[in-house]
Amino acid sequence: MRYKTGKVALSGINMDIPQGSFVYLIGESGAGKSTLLKMMYGGIRPTSGQLEVQGTTIRDASEHQIRALRQRTGIIFQGNRLLHSRTVFENVALPLRAQGWNAERLLPRVEKVLSFVGLKDRLWSYPETLSGGEQQRVAIARAMLSNPPLILADEPTGNLDDDTARHVLDILSALNKLGTTIIMATHDLHLLTSHPGDVVQLHKGVLVTGRRQRRNP
Ligand SMILES: Nc1ncnc2c1ncn2[C@@H]1O[C@H](COP(=O)(O)OP(=O)(O)OP(=O)(O)O)[C@@H](O)[C@H]1O
Ligand SMILES: [Mg+2]
Repeated sequence: MRYKTGKVALSGINMDIPQGSFVYLIGESGAGKSTLLKMMYGGIRPTSGQLEVQGTTIRDASEHQIRALRQRTGIIFQGNRLLHSRTVFENVALPLRAQGWNAERLLPRVEKVLSFVGLKDRLWSYPETLSGGEQQRVAIARAMLSNPPLILADEPTGNLDDDTARHVLDILSALNKLGTTIIMATHDLHLLTSHPGDVVQLHKGVLVTGRRQRRNP
């Protein structure tokens, strides 16, 4: 992946992440973690090489195919990106609203995912009245709304204390046990002891360790 500035953010990466995995994407600041996650939902496209996600080849997929891929992908952005002028309900409902669901149909679904993250009673609250950990759980609820087989999370525990971070991980692990693939960028390596997963380590845009590297692509 070469950005327009000429910066090569990722190169020579060769790996395979099977459906159902729980992957920690680690590496120093600037290593390329967010870049890799963005490529996985087609937010940016690799400038050379091959990346296939859920059967979609990112580099030459049409806009329509990228949109379809995003409907099958839950995204938790770095810094949760909740809309502060909207209620928790509206924030969580957003992805399915965009797909044309009306409020009547949305409400039971939103209630269900908020129960899963333990925040059903905050449906009509505004994000600024929630703690950082609660906001992060709202972001998870939004990502899981359409029951996607893949969730990409960019530092979902950034700025959370250890106990709160583990609570967020409990929720992601529970989703993983239900079959959802989780790929999560993090600096919180201590989480690995309480919540084991596969580790993919980047360093300056190059893979240091990763599971199931293919010898011959
Ligand atoms: N839009 C962009 N244009 C040019 N360069 C970029 C762009 N986005 C990121 N980069 C560069 O690509 C490299 C990888 O950035 P990336 O955001 O993927 O790192 P990261 O591993 O997520 O870091 P952090 O842990 O700080 O979030 C960095 O050198 C960064 O400056
Ligand atoms: Mg990042």
